[in-house]
Amino acid sequence: MPPTVPVRTADGPLAGPVADAVRSLAERTQLVDGAAALSERTVLGLDAADRHHALAYASGRLVGYAQVWPEGASELVVLPTERRRGIGTSLWTASTDAGATSVWAHGAMPPAKAFAAAHGLVVVRKLHRMERAVRPAEAITDRLPEPYTVRRFVVGSDEDAWLDANSAAFAEHPEQGGMTKAELLAKEAAPWFDPAGLLLVETPELPGKIAAFHWTKRVGSEGEVHAVGIRPELQGRGLAGVLTRLGMGYLVATGVDRIVLWVDSGNERALRTYEREGFRVSATDVVYGAPG
Ligand SMILES: CC(C)(COP(=O)(O)OP(=O)(O)OC[C@H]1O[C@@H](n2cnc3c(N)ncnc32)[C@H](O)[C@@H]1OP(=O)(O)O)[C@@H](O)C(=O)NCCC(=O)NCCS
Repeated sequence: MPPTVPVRTADGPLAGPVADAVRSLAERTQLVDGAAALSERTVLGLDAADRHHALAYASGRLVGYAQVWPEGASELVVLPTERRRGIGTSLWTASTDAGATSVWAHGAMPPAKAFAAAHGLVVVRKLHRMERAVRPAEAITDRLPEPYTVRRFVVGSDEDAWLDANSAAFAEHPEQGGMTKAELLAKEAAPWFDPAGLLLVETPELPGKIAAFHWTKRVGSEGEVHAVGIRPELQGRGLAGVLTRLGMGYLVATGVDRIVLWVDSGNERALRTYEREGFRVSATDVVYGAPG
């Protein structure tokens, strides 16, 4: 399919007005599609040094955008009024030229499925969105067993220790485990960031280290189990349930009426932990990539 509109590529942080145009494109698209095509990682990535961008313009107006992440995953969106004109294809070609090997489809909607099939891409990963309502006056409390202790994150001093714990806990999950200091600092600057909602677990067994953590996120009345990580040497000791409840308890105490989270469909242990806490799958995001 020949390109129907020019596609420009760029590396590194986008200029302010261009980044604004991408955010506006994403917002207008979400109003029509009912699902966000670009994740927080991509939105924060507009200002990051390690991203490739492809931008499609029609009559001087941004009508499509793709971003390639350092490990080769990407996100791609075309304005609903401009679809089926080959713009998605042009953006995908530019993305693969910039190193993309896979693309996220949030909400796994029919156009994404058809687009992936047209490009010979298959589902290579599934991420479940799970959610759970908070009952009126519900309180969730729990305590870590001895000798573990919990405290809040301290901005400006816990970053390196947290990044070390995160990469150890998520060694098998490149997007989470590969988080850089720049990405962490960008999250700290986000309006939702709350250091008291990033719970850090310590143990005398691992002096100077963060043993485990539960990072919660709150946007409006919705809470999120943003990330629960336990160092590999401490996994299998029954900490996951308590740690999950500690973060949920924090979110409930701040007044959320719903808690959501995302988890890999193949992560049986995490799925079981969340099911036990009352979470149920409400939607599934998929990653499309080359077969095999
Ligand atoms: C998926 C998306 C990027 C496609 O963009 P697009 O500009 O419409 O894509 P193209 O015009 O290049 O489509 C290429 C081919 O994909 C297939 N396709 C795309 N959308 C389709 C749809 N709604 N129904 C059936 N086939 C479709 C067709 O085979 C099409 O070729 P054709 O129009 O000649 O039949 C766009 O629908 C979108 O932004 N969706 C929301 C974000 C998203 O889901 N991103 C993840 C992409 S995997």
